[in-house]
Amino acid sequence: MLTVGNPSSNSSADAAAIERRIAGLIARMTLAEKVGQMSQVMAEGDDAPRRLATVLREGRIGSVLNQVEPRTVNELQRIAVEQSRLGIPLLLGRDVIHGFRTVLPIPLGQAATWNPEIVQAGARVAALEAAAAGINWTFAPMVDIARDPRWGRIAESFGEDPCLASRLGVAMVRGFQGDDLSAPGAIAACAKHFAGYGEAEGGRDYATTNIPENELRNVHLRPFKASVDAGVATLMASFSDLNGVPASANSFLMRQVLRDEWRFDGFVVSDWDSVRQLAVHGFTAGDRDSACEAATAGIDMEMAGNAFSEHLESLVGEGRINVELIDAAVANILRVKFRLGLFERPYLDPDLLPQTPPEEKLRIAKVAALQSVVMLKNDAAVLPLSTRRIRSLAVIGPLADAPHDQLGTWIFDGEPGLSVTALQGIRDLVGEGVDVRYVRAMETSRSRATQAFDQAVDVARGADAVVLCLGEESILSGEAHCRADIGLPGAQVELVRRLRATGKPVIAVIMAGRPLTLVDIVDEVDAILFAWHPGTMGGAALADLLFGVESPSGKLPATFPRMVGQVPIYYNRKNSGKPPTQDSVVLIDDIPVGAPQTSIGNTAFHLDAGYRPLFPFGYGLSYARFGYTNLRLSSDELVVGGAMKVSVDVTNLGKVAADEVVQLYVRDLVGSVTRPVRELKDFRRIRLDPGHTTTIDFELHADDLAFFGRDNTLITETGEFQLWVGGSSDADSCASFRLVNAEGAAR
Ligand code: BGC
Repeated sequence: MLTVGNPSSNSSADAAAIERRIAGLIARMTLAEKVGQMSQVMAEGDDAPRRLATVLREGRIGSVLNQVEPRTVNELQRIAVEQSRLGIPLLLGRDVIHGFRTVLPIPLGQAATWNPEIVQAGARVAALEAAAAGINWTFAPMVDIARDPRWGRIAESFGEDPCLASRLGVAMVRGFQGDDLSAPGAIAACAKHFAGYGEAEGGRDYATTNIPENELRNVHLRPFKASVDAGVATLMASFSDLNGVPASANSFLMRQVLRDEWRFDGFVVSDWDSVRQLAVHGFTAGDRDSACEAATAGIDMEMAGNAFSEHLESLVGEGRINVELIDAAVANILRVKFRLGLFERPYLDPDLLPQTPPEEKLRIAKVAALQSVVMLKNDAAVLPLSTRRIRSLAVIGPLADAPHDQLGTWIFDGEPGLSVTALQGIRDLVGEGVDVRYVRAMETSRSRATQAFDQAVDVARGADAVVLCLGEESILSGEAHCRADIGLPGAQVELVRRLRATGKPVIAVIMAGRPLTLVDIVDEVDAILFAWHPGTMGGAALADLLFGVESPSGKLPATFPRMVGQVPIYYNRKNSGKPPTQDSVVLIDDIPVGAPQTSIGNTAFHLDAGYRPLFPFGYGLSYARFGYTNLRLSSDELVVGGAMKVSVDVTNLGKVAADEVVQLYVRDLVGSVTRPVRELKDFRRIRLDPGHTTTIDFELHADDLAFFGRDNTLITETGEFQLWVGGSSDADSCASFRLVNAEGAAR
């Protein structure tokens, strides 16, 4: 594994030196040059240096985005550094979301690994490849909490849980930034989209969000805070409206929380043209007011718009904006440039970059894909397939041999030519011994045409088993690609039924950018491997999983609803005053005719869906089986400010070595604001040989139990807690303890 450590901000001596250099530079800058630093423009195309030469020479640009041709990058940088008055180097930004050339699983898939080490190693590979193209700043990680699978950008998220998203967001920041942001190969990260973007109404991207401050702080802000604490260089403001004030003009977020409370000293970039969109929101009367509101609220750099460049100077002239505010924004931007070492080393020099052998990059991409796949079902142990028993295998479906689509959303620089598809992976693994016959059956995942189904059925009839590769092609998720129906699109369900009728074992491999509703097919197939969009090495990983070279070990980072009408449905919900129970649920067909309306005994569920999801958060099967016993706490009292040990024995009761993700949840039984029914507090991926038992120790800190209370400050409240450790959010190994203050009282 590649080594990566904590991103350090600079030592205090370095930091002081940087502050002096910033002050010296700002003292020499004209207002136009200052506003220039606050402006980022698009620099696509070979002619970018020619197009941008004049403004670069005048110091009117602080950053460009979307230029990845090394020669052009260096040319742009040369104009800025050698031909402008102050020679301030440029930031070169790009969306390096889940890999650059070598593509890792989509972030939601990476979240299913529950493995910060592999996420960090993957980001390091991405950073090195992007740095080799001249990029020094990526717009990742996206740490928005995503509770709505209709939202296309759930694909880019780490799912629904603040603890998981925080840990993996931090891992990604560390992977991009390394120990030392100024070291060749390190690139600045950007935690986005600040904040609340994932709560878009109806799962429609960009739509309004309404999030009470208490929920914002207890859920949505946590991964951002963790990223800031880990030294993330930049943040990006969200496109969305938060409680009536669009995020790009939201001083509560950017001034109060980010600067005053969290002491963030990097910079905030707007989202693409989101400053000018303040007028479209109906928040400002036009670009001039938008520039004023955004800068005042704390946007330091405007991405791809011209509100800052056209209006900030005159707004200062008029006294609507203080020059001190501009100076502070410029200082934030320059601080990141100094930390990146750009003043010392502005140009891309491939010889300076650490080299990673291509096999090592592919190995990391494969491990990430292997660990990301979640086995949702495996009836009668149909999986793993055995090359000794299977003579002929049908590989069917629109995603079986889809080198581009398996890469997923946001892969500007991804190389489909490197993709190992499922079909290829299977063929490579089984060799000559198994006759692999492939029928695509549908042109795309959306196709409605069924003409090719007869051929698929024929091939299935002649095979010992069917591997059916279904899902969503990559364009059906990602930014602005939301769906109201999150079932399998096109004629896929019909294809499943036709193949089911052959009586052959059907193994569904599903690639998708979001949780899907699978009730239509879950009983029609024997096994399901949910593979997200698994990236470059997806097919090689799937082949290993199908044939038992490795056991599935991914765990769901987001709840899978039965029906879209259950959304939002997430594990860490509040209990309500009428929580559902098995006994209270009466489904639509069971309501007696003429039953009188009553509220007695009624609980919070849907008549047509019950209250459970199809698969809960944290769930995922294995070829092994893990037993959890002997859950014990070092004490049944935890003192505020202290920590306790939580131990459990985990046994591999199966016949193969496998990874398991051990998950620790708590419930705070009584709170001054209501507390979730369960909250993930820690987790660990372990590997166990068959028949072996290991003891897993977690250290649970009283601080982990803190939450934002009624006045929205962080508090630790004494009282009774329950705790569970197991392999999913449904874990049933339970213990209790009391959180007490130093005098031993749980008030
Ligand atoms: C997205 C950002 C992205 C930016 C630059 C926007 O549309 O919301 O996440 O970083 O474009 O490509």
